Amino acid sequence: MADGSTDLTGRTAIVTGGAGPLGSVLSDALARAGARVVVVDLDGPACATTVAALPGTDHVACPADLLAPEGISAVVDCAEELQACDVLVNNAAFTGTSGVPGYAVPFEEQTDEAFALALQLNLLAPFSLTRRLAPLLRAGGHGSVINVSSIYGLVGPNMGLYEGTRMGNPAAYAASKGGIAQLTRYLATVLAPDIRVNAFAPGGIARGQDPAFVERYERLTPLARMGTEDDFRGVVTWLASDASAYVTGQTVAVDGGWTAW
Ligand SMILES: NC(=O)c1ccc[n+]([C@@H]2O[C@H](COP(=O)([O-])OP(=O)(O)OC[C@H]3O[C@@H](n4cnc5c(N)ncnc54)[C@H](O)[C@@H]3O)[C@@H](O)[C@H]2O)c1
Repeated sequence: MADGSTDLTGRTAIVTGGAGPLGSVLSDALARAGARVVVVDLDGPACATTVAALPGTDHVACPADLLAPEGISAVVDCAEELQACDVLVNNAAFTGTSGVPGYAVPFEEQTDEAFALALQLNLLAPFSLTRRLAPLLRAGGHGSVINVSSIYGLVGPNMGLYEGTRMGNPAAYAASKGGIAQLTRYLATVLAPDIRVNAFAPGGIARGQDPAFVERYERLTPLARMGTEDDFRGVVTWLASDASAYVTGQTVAVDGGWTAW
């Protein structure tokens, strides 16, 4: 029912990479809307700390390595134990700053191994989790999968932004985030009408990057600033809830207009 409500009371939301800088804010937004949140992350103690900081008391920490089949199974086991999964946020990913050897380096130095590893976390894990959690997502009657893409899944990189900095923009990131946008369309049609599947594509988030980069980035952004983690609270709550009941298969750019020109 589309009643415009963003109330998530009684719903269970799984957030991968939920202890990370963006994941923990997405978890907080969903908890504030009333959801029980399952925080999935590689880092066990960070999962527990994130859970402890969420409003409400019934949230769950689920330490798991999503690069390992056992890690994917641990998330599914956790949901099956709770007998609930209404919202799945596929947020964990190798980003430009993940420090994987052969990844965020000049194009000629990028390796097949790093490319494959990035696709495994950024694209295969969301596929696996969605496939295996589909029965629970369907059972609750409000299933919503939210994939985190990127502006670099929508447009090619402007390498001039990084000149003179130590920053990089890997091919595997572009391929995996573009793949996520298309996987979103695929899953939206295949899992309809029971489960909605959408994505949002963040623009660059301000995290103390090289000032030369920030200045160039802001000049190319219509809203004239980089994002903050808080800029994504609205989109995740909207896509998770019945407020977006007639929306599926979409990738919503939340990027200050970066992809608008
Ligand atoms: N930071 C940005 O500017 C930006 C821009 C566009 C899109 N995004 C997207 O937003 C999402 C979050 O980005 P972020 O910058 O907060 O990322 P991050 O690297 O800071 O955090 C990601 C989290 O995922 C976890 N993680 C890493 N490997 C894992 C594994 N094998 N198993 C389980 N968890 C694992 C990490 O421990 C971390 O908590 C990503 O999908 C990213 O591509 C970020």
